[in-house]
Amino acid sequence: MTTTRLPDIRLNDGTLLPAIALGTYNLRGRAGADAMAAAIRSGYRLLDSAFIYENEGAVGEALRLSGAPRDDVALTSKLPGRYHRYDDAVWAVEESLMRAGLDHWDLYLVHWPNPSQGLYVEAFQALVDLRERGLIRSVGVSNFLPEHLRAVADATGVVPAVNQIELHPYFPQSEQIELHRKMGVVTEAWSPLARKLRVVDDPTIRDLADEVGRAPAQVVLRWHYQRGVVPLPKSASPERQASNLDIADFELTDDQMARISSLGRPDGRQNGQDPAVYEEF
Ligand SMILES: NC(=O)c1ccc[n+]([C@@H]2O[C@H](COP(=O)([O-])OP(=O)(O)OC[C@H]3O[C@@H](n4cnc5c(N)ncnc54)[C@H](OP(=O)(O)O)[C@@H]3O)[C@@H](O)[C@H]2O)c1
Repeated sequence: MTTTRLPDIRLNDGTLLPAIALGTYNLRGRAGADAMAAAIRSGYRLLDSAFIYENEGAVGEALRLSGAPRDDVALTSKLPGRYHRYDDAVWAVEESLMRAGLDHWDLYLVHWPNPSQGLYVEAFQALVDLRERGLIRSVGVSNFLPEHLRAVADATGVVPAVNQIELHPYFPQSEQIELHRKMGVVTEAWSPLARKLRVVDDPTIRDLADEVGRAPAQVVLRWHYQRGVVPLPKSASPERQASNLDIADFELTDDQMARISSLGRPDGRQNGQDPAVYEEF
């Protein structure tokens, strides 16, 4: 099956980012590398990893197993809170490249702002300098609230290319997406299928899926895409991976989009991880 590819998205640094990624949380070791390689073979051109997922080695292995040319696949990783100090950030990225067997990451993000540590600006500056050295192509952040985004942009003069945030129908984040649009930041959605809350089983989503003749996950991923958001669905199954990628050939109406957005609720985060107070190391 050949899947029509969604058009890439232009980042504020001029590079192109694929419009959908494979999430890789919990894909580790041999089985993880095999699952990721299957995804690349089925057409994924963006993978989302992180230092704390302990799978950067498997990401590099998956690329090699897939046989895809390095330049055809964009690979992402993220800096954990424990390495926000400038010198720590530098060697942490160097080490993650060595583990993956790569000479650069296409996108590298500060994973959480950890505001009580007060070091996220320093961490971001380190990523900007690593970009100058060619070890990273694009620099971004994750879980940054508006004040954190403004702080890094003001201090470094560099607007993050991407902010990866929790975003799914139960937590649609409309205001944050609008701020990103104004600042020139691309929004990536983590847990785009609301993993823990299983939005694919929601009656509204199931009704819509019947209406458009698509799988529930495809309807949700299409909703992300039509909002200009890059979703990162994770699946270990080659069948679900392929299905999740296959969202180019149908469109949701404004009314269908609104019905999905109406599932949102103020406390819709799946684990209550508010970046103002929740921190990861
Ligand atoms: N920046 C951050 O702080 C942060 C936090 C969390 C996650 N992330 C990133 O975001 C990625 C995605 O988030 P996530 O893994 O939490 O959750 P998710 O992608 O919303 O959901 C994944 C779950 O949905 C299932 N699934 C996938 N496709 C499906 C389909 N077509 N039909 C039914 N079920 C389906 C998967 O099971 P199977 O594997 O069995 O298909 C898995 O249990 C992560 O892998 C990670 O890369 C980032």
